[in-house]
This record gives sequence, C-alpha cells and structure tokens, in this order.
Amino acid sequence: MNGAGEDHEGTAVRRDRFSGGPAREFLSSLAGDRRIFAADLAVDRAHVVMLAEQGIIDGETAGEILAALDDVEASGHDGLPAGEDVHEAIETAVIDRIGPDGGKMHTARSRNDEVATCIRYRLRSDLLDAIEATIALREVLCSAAEEHVGAVMPGYTHLQPAQPTTVGHYLLSYESAVARDTARLLDAYGRTNRSPLGAAAFAGTPFDVDRERTAALLGFDGIVRNSMDAASARDFLAEATGALATHAVTLSGLAEDLVLFSNRGFLELDDDYASTSSIMPQKKNPDTLELVRGVAGDAVGAATATLSSLKGLPRAYNRDLQRVHPHAFDAVDAVIDATDVAGGAVATASWDETALADAAGEGFSTATGVADLLAMAGIPFRTAHEVVATAAERFENDVSAAKIDAVAEEVTGESLFAHVSREDVRAALDPAESVASRDSVGGPAEYEVEAAVEAATDGVSADETAANERRDRIETARKTLAAEVATYV
Ligand code: ARG
Repeated sequence: MNGAGEDHEGTAVRRDRFSGGPAREFLSSLAGDRRIFAADLAVDRAHVVMLAEQGIIDGETAGEILAALDDVEASGHDGLPAGEDVHEAIETAVIDRIGPDGGKMHTARSRNDEVATCIRYRLRSDLLDAIEATIALREVLCSAAEEHVGAVMPGYTHLQPAQPTTVGHYLLSYESAVARDTARLLDAYGRTNRSPLGAAAFAGTPFDVDRERTAALLGFDGIVRNSMDAASARDFLAEATGALATHAVTLSGLAEDLVLFSNRGFLELDDDYASTSSIMPQKKNPDTLELVRGVAGDAVGAATATLSSLKGLPRAYNRDLQRVHPHAFDAVDAVIDATDVAGGAVATASWDETALADAAGEGFSTATGVADLLAMAGIPFRTAHEVVATAAERFENDVSAAKIDAVAEEVTGESLFAHVSREDVRAALDPAESVASRDSVGGPAEYEVEAAVEAATDGVSADETAANERRDRIETARKTLAAEVATYV
C-alpha cells in the first residue's frame, strides 16, 4: 500500500516526467482552473482535516500543510507554480513551502475525485447566483404586472393579432416560465451539491477515509456513494447547462417580444438599456435585449457541447472531462448577466398604454369573443365561428354589430338579436370588455391577474427562502471548516 493516487508520485519533480513537451499547453487546464482555485483550497483543507482526524496523517503535518495552504491562498492563482492543473500546482506549491511532507496532502485521493468535488463546490454557488437572478427577475415581472394589471394590449398568435389581453397577463406569463426555470435550477443544485471526495481515482481507497465528514465540512448535502460514479459523473453538468439553456430560451422569448413591442411603439426602453447608431442620429436601438436573445445561443451551445462531450465516454475517468465543466461556467456567467439585464430593462421600460389600447382591437381581435357570445346564447360554436369569419372576411375586419347581424341573417336565416342583445355584441367588440369577459382561471380578467400576481409573489418568497437556506448551509460549513483548520494552524 503506497497510499498514492494514480498520478501521485511523491514529488512534483517526478510528476514532470511526462508532458514536458509540445503538448504541455494543450494538456494544461491551469489557466481555466482559476475558476476553481478557491474551491480546490477548500477541498484540500477539508481533506487534510479529515486525514488528521482519522489518524491517516499526524496533526503536526496537517498543521504544516494547512498553514502552507493559507500561504498559497495569499499568493493567489497567479502565484502558483507551473502545473498541469490547479490541483497539481497547489500541491507543488505546498511541497515547495514545507518539503516532501506536503505530498501527504494527496493521500487517499486522486485528482479525479478532487476535480469533480471542486467543480461541484464552485458550480453550486454559481447556480445559487443564477437562482437568485431568476428570483429577482420574477420580482420585477410581478411588480410590472401589478402596475399594468388592467392595461389592454394586443395578444398575438403567429405574430398576427389574435385576442386582446393585458400587459399584466402578458408579463405574468413570463413570470410563470421563469418560476419553472428557478425550480429547474434548484433541482440541478440538489444533484450538484453532493460530494465525490474520497472516491479516489474511481476505485476507492484502502485508507479509512470519512467521506461524510469531508462532505459536511464542504457544505455538501451528502456524498455520491459509488466511487466509480463519483469520479465519472458529469450528468449534473448536463442538467445545470440544460436548466440554464432552458432559462436562456425563456429570456430570449421575452427579449424578442420586447424588441417587437419597441418596434410598434408599445414600449420604450430606458436609455440605460438602449443603444444608438454611430451614423443614424435618430436611432434608439434595443441592443441589450438583442444580446439577451443572443445569450440563448451561447447557453444552448454549452448544453449541446456538454452532452456531446459526455456521449459515449467509457468509465471511469477520461481527460475529455477537463473540457466539459468550463461550458457550465461560461453559460452560468452569461445567463446571469442576461437575466439581470432583462430584469433591468423590464423594470425601467415605459409602456405606452394608449398605443397598446389603440392597437388592442386591431385585426378584429375581438372576433373570438363575439363567436363565444353567440355560442353562449345557444348557437353552435361552429356556426357562430362561420358567421363571424364571414363578417371578418367581407368587411375586412372592419365590423360592427349591424354588419355581423347582416351576415347572421344570411347564414342562419334569423337575426342575431333573437339570441343576444345589441349591447352585448357591442361590448364583445370592445377590447377592454373582451378582456374583462375572459375570467377563466389564469385568464386576463383583472381580478384573475391580481390573484395571479399574489400567487406569484408567494412563489417568489418561497424560492427566496429556499435559496437563502442553501446559502446559509454553505456559509455555516465555510465557518466550520475555517474553525477546524484554525485548531491545526
Ligand atoms: N485537470 C483535470 C480535469 O479537469 C484533473 C483530473 C486529472 N486526472 C487525470 N487522471 N489526469 O479533469
């Protein structure tokens, strides 16, 4: 038993026996590992504390290693010696400081479980940032919806005027979607926040490691038990990038709508969220929203790259994996930025309620309401549909109660007003009345939207609590680990 991970040969010098050649740069992840520098130090500390507690290394050596790690931390990522990756470089830096005993740090582990732990440790915080960004966006959507709860606007299908709705109803449709995005990210968080540490290369270790202890010291919710799974699994990256890409796609739809609404003069972006042209002096362009829309491309790319890289990888560890997690880090950064910008744009935009109301009835968008009215009076819906469709076609969407009645006489052989009052038809033709009539659950009628804002706000608070609990658990673990380290240093 030599207690070594597959790549541990005791000294940094011996490790250099490979990969000193032209492939050196290609092999190295050191630059990109900046992202997991702090994570690796935490993982090293928890591992060393556990090794000492288990009597695998003595307390004095643990103290020296932990003191060296403090010093490595102070020098920062840029102060690291050359290395194939941050794990190797930190180990070399420790050995440089305290001599060969520094090599005891890598007892009973491998870079395989180490890197998997570092990625999960770092990504969970990033996911929490993303979760909080989605929550903040939902807050913005809720308050804008509340503010414009009764503002009538055109609703579209196939980008054609379809039925009038309200700005409140429209905005809450995105709040609902973003709420599911939050839920997906919370799910991804749950499966990310488990510790692979102690799996070693993949095959476990003869040392009496306490995997639950390192998991707790690092604030994980538990361990990834099967050691081969622990070292190999990256499905949490597929899940995280999938959830991020899904959210980015949600954002892209919102951004696209707002670009279209700006084009129609329904909405004006605040100057902070607009750009001008270098040549056309009059221009105010919705560039921020176009970039939000564009981020979906990056995020979908990250999810695709992740799955493509993982496809068909054999067990257990393969170096391809080194190229996978950066996609998640890139995606999470871009998606958080896009979420923040989308929220800022919505929060500061001004909706032109008059322009929206004027457009709400365009293209005879109240036609469905008229057909519904006739059907409610007992005319079969298909017949009502035909009456209204014929009127729409004949009068090129410029209809009135009298015009519809004329068509009804032709189609059904009797006047409309045998079934409904003239007043009710006029009301059905009015966009605001049309909206008010659609009070089915989740519909645009004002009191429905008000109730929906309340429910959405409750959902936001619940998710806020969930995110805070996770933050607190991480922070508590961070303090516990620091206190444990202090007893040795
Ligand atoms: N930098 C590597 C990665 O990110 C660390 C693991 C190296 N392990 C190995 N067996 N070569 O995956």
